Amino acid sequence: MSLFESFRRERKEEQDIERDRTNSFYNQNPYNTNNLEEDSDLIDIEEAEVVIRETIPAVEDQSERKEIKTYADKKPVTKVIGQTKIIAIINQKGGVGKSTTAIDLAAALGELGKQVLLVDLDPQGNATSGLGIDKSNIYRCVYDILLNDVKIQDVIIPDVCPGLDLVPATINLAGAEVELVSEMARENRLKDAVGSLRGKYDYIFIDCPPSLGLLTVNALVAADKLLIPIQCEFYALEGVTKLLDSMKRVKTRLNPTLDIFGVLLTMYDGRTTLSRQVVDEVRRYFGRVVFDTMIPRNVKISEAPSFGVPITEYDPKSKGAQAYSSLAKEVIKRG
Ligand SMILES: Nc1ncnc2c1ncn2[C@@H]1O[C@H](COP(=O)(O)OP(=O)(O)OP(=O)(O)O)[C@@H](O)[C@H]1O
Ligand SMILES: [Mg+2]
Repeated sequence: MSLFESFRRERKEEQDIERDRTNSFYNQNPYNTNNLEEDSDLIDIEEAEVVIRETIPAVEDQSERKEIKTYADKKPVTKVIGQTKIIAIINQKGGVGKSTTAIDLAAALGELGKQVLLVDLDPQGNATSGLGIDKSNIYRCVYDILLNDVKIQDVIIPDVCPGLDLVPATINLAGAEVELVSEMARENRLKDAVGSLRGKYDYIFIDCPPSLGLLTVNALVAADKLLIPIQCEFYALEGVTKLLDSMKRVKTRLNPTLDIFGVLLTMYDGRTTLSRQVVDEVRRYFGRVVFDTMIPRNVKISEAPSFGVPITEYDPKSKGAQAYSSLAKEVIKRG
């Protein structure tokens, strides 16, 4: 039985948010995935929303659009590449800092001399536009890899920042959730594509959409590990049980070595009691897997995408840039 069919069979009423806010939520150990209910609805592909919403830029788009090069134009890589780690940046909750982290962490690792690929798997294409790529000038995107058998090398835009290549997303990707349903091996499409790049990059990051549909399932199957950003605000852990359940299902059936790489606290504001309480709760819930580095709420971070550059380039001295550089070092240390 395919993953999709089993998800459909096990589908039941939406109750998770209510369940997360009550009772045993904080008492569960996220690593003891055996604790999780066997019959709960987890990856409800049938009802997966296709999210199409442009985030409103904090300031008007002021970026100089970058030239769109092809993989053949990629600068030669002279350094030795370590073992490739494929990390999905994932949280089905919207606006928690996934795309910001994808851009700014990937760029910070590039600046530290790593070879990094960022795969934009969100139809909103925020990671693509945030890196200064004009989506209206792109003829092939991650959609073509998933559904048109286009080779990933033919979609990669190389050197968007030092050490950083991009697989862009356009609005075409919005159709993928629906179109993938009738395809063979639909959960493995991304894995086959990014897997072919092992040995060519130190890190491959996948920026996931805010849903648990087939695109996210593709990311869960393709990834070695997950990086979960959690925003320091009310209901910070809302939906986390559902995400961990999805991870467990994919781990059981399709990707046995999948695990959490790290949990990242984002938009931290040390002046508020709420932020400090969320930090305590998240650290209590996830334990040592939470990164020591926390990303502060910082206006420069929210301005950088409208200039089409990562924070480390937009304002290297800002608290936000320093935080993402420090996170990059922690990521390298974790191996
Ligand atoms: N540390 C931060 N300080 C200030 N603003 C931030 C920070 N991180 C992210 N933002 C802003 O918050 C908004 C949401 O961030 P982002 O787009 O990265 O979230 P997301 O999880 O990718 O959202 P979605 O679920 O819609 O894909 C953006 O406008 C972004 O600029
Ligand atoms: Mg996003």
